[in-house]
Amino acid sequence: MSAATRQIKVAPSLLAADLARPGEEVEHVYEAGADMLHIDVMDAHFAPNLSFGPAVVAALDKVCEIPISTHLMVDNPGQFIEPFAEAGSDDILFHVEIGSDQVKLARDIRNLGVRPGIALEMNTPAEAAAPLVGEVGILLVMTVKCRYAGQTFHPQPAAKIPTLRQMFGEEVDIAVDGGVDAANAEMLAAAGANVFVAGKAVFWADDPAGAIRELRSAGEAGLARKSSGLR
Ligand code: DX5
Ligand code: ZN
Repeated sequence: MSAATRQIKVAPSLLAADLARPGEEVEHVYEAGADMLHIDVMDAHFAPNLSFGPAVVAALDKVCEIPISTHLMVDNPGQFIEPFAEAGSDDILFHVEIGSDQVKLARDIRNLGVRPGIALEMNTPAEAAAPLVGEVGILLVMTVKCRYAGQTFHPQPAAKIPTLRQMFGEEVDIAVDGGVDAANAEMLAAAGANVFVAGKAVFWADDPAGAIRELRSAGEAGLARKSSGLR
């Protein structure tokens, strides 16, 4: 694969959905063309918020026709990989900042039949992911603090995307998470990202389907720039 064959994917983030009717919201976005559903799990320790458990993933897995990407913002991800795998997660991502034996964690996730991934907080350098080269299928670059939907995009962390793409090659998905919208998606794709996690940009839009289309076309424009060698 090369930048020219990289696929742009839009992953609406459930945290920004109308949580009085999550099932309808999920059906709405996959009918609107979303590629993955991003579900943020927070334990009120690693991140100062408490969000969704395995029961929510299991309930949404019944109505969700697209892969579920579970973002664990928790101190002890090893405690949660089996319950979220059984609930129907297609990806399980943990944060490199948790320390502990990350290669073992990634392999445990893969042995459960789930694609392992790692997430990097804004100030964590790309090099922190080096031990996981060859062990994960998706990387997540945070461009906001781990806590809420609707925060302002921080461009600085995007500077690590070219290094991550160079380290991990073309086979992995590189996702950006936090304040992603049609205004920054082209730059992110040109830097080497191909998955846009989008909460506010999709779920708070008057026309979520149009928002997904705009994100995708901005990403494809960035890929075109990347493959034609333009900066
Ligand atoms: C923040 C979460 C993000 C967030 C994205 O802790 O990890 O997934 O929900 O939502 P927006 O796109 O609104 O920043
Ligand atoms: Zn997230």
